[in-house]
Amino acid sequence: MTDFIAISNRKGGVGKTTLTMMTAYGFALYGQKRVLVIDLDAQASSSLSFLGADRWIEAKDSGRHAGDMLINAFGDGKNIDISQFIVQGGGDVISPPRDPVIDVIPSSSALDDSERTLLYMMAQSEPTLEEVFYDIERKVANIIRSADGLYDVVILDCPPGLSCAAWGGLRAADYALIPYTADPTAEDNIRALMKNVLLRDIETRFIPIANRVGNAGGSAMVIDAIEHEYGKFGLQIPSRQALVNALSYNEEPVSPSIKFGSARNLVENLHEAILTWKHHAPQTVPIENEYASA
Ligand SMILES: Nc1ncnc2c1ncn2[C@@H]1O[C@H](COP(=O)(O)OP(=O)(O)O)[C@@H](O)[C@H]1O
Ligand SMILES: [Mg+2]
Repeated sequence: MTDFIAISNRKGGVGKTTLTMMTAYGFALYGQKRVLVIDLDAQASSSLSFLGADRWIEAKDSGRHAGDMLINAFGDGKNIDISQFIVQGGGDVISPPRDPVIDVIPSSSALDDSERTLLYMMAQSEPTLEEVFYDIERKVANIIRSADGLYDVVILDCPPGLSCAAWGGLRAADYALIPYTADPTAEDNIRALMKNVLLRDIETRFIPIANRVGNAGGSAMVIDAIEHEYGKFGLQIPSRQALVNALSYNEEPVSPSIKFGSARNLVENLHEAILTWKHHAPQTVPIENEYASA
């Protein structure tokens, strides 16, 4: 069975892509899992981080990207093959005897265009705007879930804001990691997300994770309040230059020690903390999938 993990927050710059990168390498290196990263953010930061510029350009020029995947999900429907959008062999880390398996569905600015096209398209056939959004979200979730069984873990780097792609990712996920920086807006952003989750009746479990802890502007009181309300996660991610460096793609593959430097233990600890949290959290009901192979 595949674990679908969304990394989401309606705020930008809080560490979604950093956490996507850490989670993907954590599972691939320390869990020996086969990982697929789906970049749902048109800014394509994860795509660049896992593929580098040349492979990303090649992928998007040949239609291997999330924008095309979205448009295809609205074609005749049922038997869409998600593998046609996957770029194999992402990442820049070697770790003999078994190199990490990280495949990628990259994104590009075309993802924004696809979403707009779908909104226009669906507006012709659905009676209310609410139903248009719901239909798109559900279809996005279904196509993502069609990767079930192909990988051990699918990680969704969600865009900021709460677009159809973001909600599709949240619907598809078994659980969602919500990185936040402990500034005065953090509680408001998480609460807005939770309110919408309740409205939508989404089964996904959520866990806020404090990021960039220890930097100026972060407040321990904000972290306490969020942990009090939503539960405590086993790790807070400190502010580390090594994590900034690790987001850059190396054209020549490197060892985990070189990739992550002093943050290597954080990648390993995050993986452990996710497994521990998962073990103690209640299970959710599997999501029905109209694209499931017969
Ligand atoms: N724990 C951290 N320590 C230091 N810098 C960080 C940390 N987490 C994120 N950053 C930096 O903050 C910026 C925004 O992070 P990013 O992961 O791209 O956020 P998002 O995807 O939410 O927009 C990037 O430059 C990233 O390198
Ligand atoms: Mg990002």
